[in-house]
Amino acid sequence: MARIIVVTSGKGGVGKTTVTAGLGRALAAKGKRVVLMDADLGLNNLDVVMGVETQVVYDILDVVENRCRPRQALVEDSVMAGLYILPGASYDDGGKIGGQNLRAIIHSLSSSFDYIFIDCPAGIDVGFHRAVAAADEALVVTTPHVSALRDADKVVAIVKSYGITARLIVNRVRGDMVLEREQLRCDDIAAMLQIPPVGLLPEEDAINTCNCFLTSGRGKTEGDSAMELLADNVLNGTEKLYDVTKKYRGFFGGIKRSLKRIV
Ligand SMILES: Nc1ncnc2c1ncn2[C@@H]1O[C@H](COP(=O)(O)OP(=O)(O)OP(=O)(O)O)[C@@H](O)[C@H]1O
Ligand SMILES: [Mg+2]
Repeated sequence: MARIIVVTSGKGGVGKTTVTAGLGRALAAKGKRVVLMDADLGLNNLDVVMGVETQVVYDILDVVENRCRPRQALVEDSVMAGLYILPGASYDDGGKIGGQNLRAIIHSLSSSFDYIFIDCPAGIDVGFHRAVAAADEALVVTTPHVSALRDADKVVAIVKSYGITARLIVNRVRGDMVLEREQLRCDDIAAMLQIPPVGLLPEEDAINTCNCFLTSGRGKTEGDSAMELLADNVLNGTEKLYDVTKKYRGFFGGIKRSLKRIV
């Protein structure tokens, strides 16, 4: 049976979809069978991030409204075998679809896959509750910025009230700023939010052109390594965090740090 994991945040734009896509690629690369469900109805974009938007025939509303079976709506990733996307609908249903509808879809896919990740919409409205209610575990994504942390704090409390395990991913971390104490450390953020950290992902310039971690056809980036470590943690229940400050330490690291600030 699949592990059902919602990727949520509270604040929008902190990297839920990017994390969902990257985790899917990383776990599929380890031989796991993975479904990425886009539960962001109306503002769905997981298919675009994964580069499969032209292959979408059915979406999640077609499944809920019985125009197709869940398996028929799945689109296979172009990069990684064993990874499938269940596209979200491009219009909202006005709250007609509930957590039990998503649960029913998940139930029918669960025996054929190892992981089902739910890409949650931003905010704490009906779409958020629908996604969280369908999951057994939550990954709460935040950036180290105060506005994101405030929202993450609220979301952690709500997620815990559902009785599901919540773990933290800090995204868009700048190693040079952490060393200069201009950005909070991941451990401090985890202590503040009172949930265990499971991943730390660096600010990654390559995302601007590739839209996703672990995109084939380019060299392995720092973000790719951090994403692989995050996937290992999800897989094994460990909490090893990528050292984003490593390249900025020591004599040459100091030079890199100075250059980063000047440029
Ligand atoms: N580690 C990163 N480094 C650089 N850019 C990133 C990183 N993570 C995400 N981004 C960029 O930030 C933007 C928002 O990311 P994403 O769409 O994944 O956020 P989201 O939380 O899913 O947003 P929404 O709440 O709108 O669904 C995207 O342009 C993405 O490419
Ligand atoms: Mg998103």
